[in-house]
Amino acid sequence: MNIRPARVGDVPAIQELIRTFADRKLMIRRSLGELYESIREFLVATDDNGQIIGCVALHVFWEDLAELKCLAVSEHAHGRGVGRALLDSCWEASRLLEIKTVFTLTYVADFFEKCGYHRIEKADLPHKIWNECVRCPLFPNCNEIALIRSVATEWQTVNGELATTSV
Ligand SMILES: CC(C)(COP(=O)(O)OP(=O)(O)OC[C@H]1O[C@@H](n2cnc3c(N)ncnc32)[C@H](O)[C@@H]1OP(=O)(O)O)[C@@H](O)C(=O)NCCC(=O)NCCS
Repeated sequence: MNIRPARVGDVPAIQELIRTFADRKLMIRRSLGELYESIREFLVATDDNGQIIGCVALHVFWEDLAELKCLAVSEHAHGRGVGRALLDSCWEASRLLEIKTVFTLTYVADFFEKCGYHRIEKADLPHKIWNECVRCPLFPNCNEIALIRSVATEWQTVNGELATTSV
């Protein structure tokens, strides 16, 4: 397995990978336009033949906050550490950008907890992140769970916004 930044030529495979889970309402469907526009945010995992078996995106929200999104691993590659490797690479990418906190909204909270994320109340996430959610057909009744991974030793809520303390 190899993990690398995505290229524009990867977009159809990324869209298809996401679609397989979006059809089961496990993920949000992404248009080709959205994917091309955000291709620089994506990492992909490839197998020995160069085929895409996983993807993830890191979307920067603010100076200290990014969202991990669009995580998907091909069903035939599940359980082999691809998802964890994608999260680790994303975390490394966020460190290089000097982002202190990465959050995600997900139905697979147990998986994220195994990979170093901690559950938080959705209400504790900054209001600016809800832009995308309001476009989702499940809004406001989705059951996604919010989790964060932070370089902070502790996090706290200040005026409804997530704040971090660096170690
Ligand atoms: C969730 C997903 C990314 C996991 O990918 P994966 O490559 O199978 O996961 P890994 O093999 O890296 O697993 C890492 C650890 O998490 C565990 N794990 C994997 N999927 C899990 C799940 N759904 N729930 C709880 N634990 C899970 C593994 O058992 C492993 O644990 P271990 O270290 O104790 O052995 C993959 O199942 C997937 O693409 N699901 C559908 C799309 C989706 O739900 N994406 C998340 C949207 S935010």
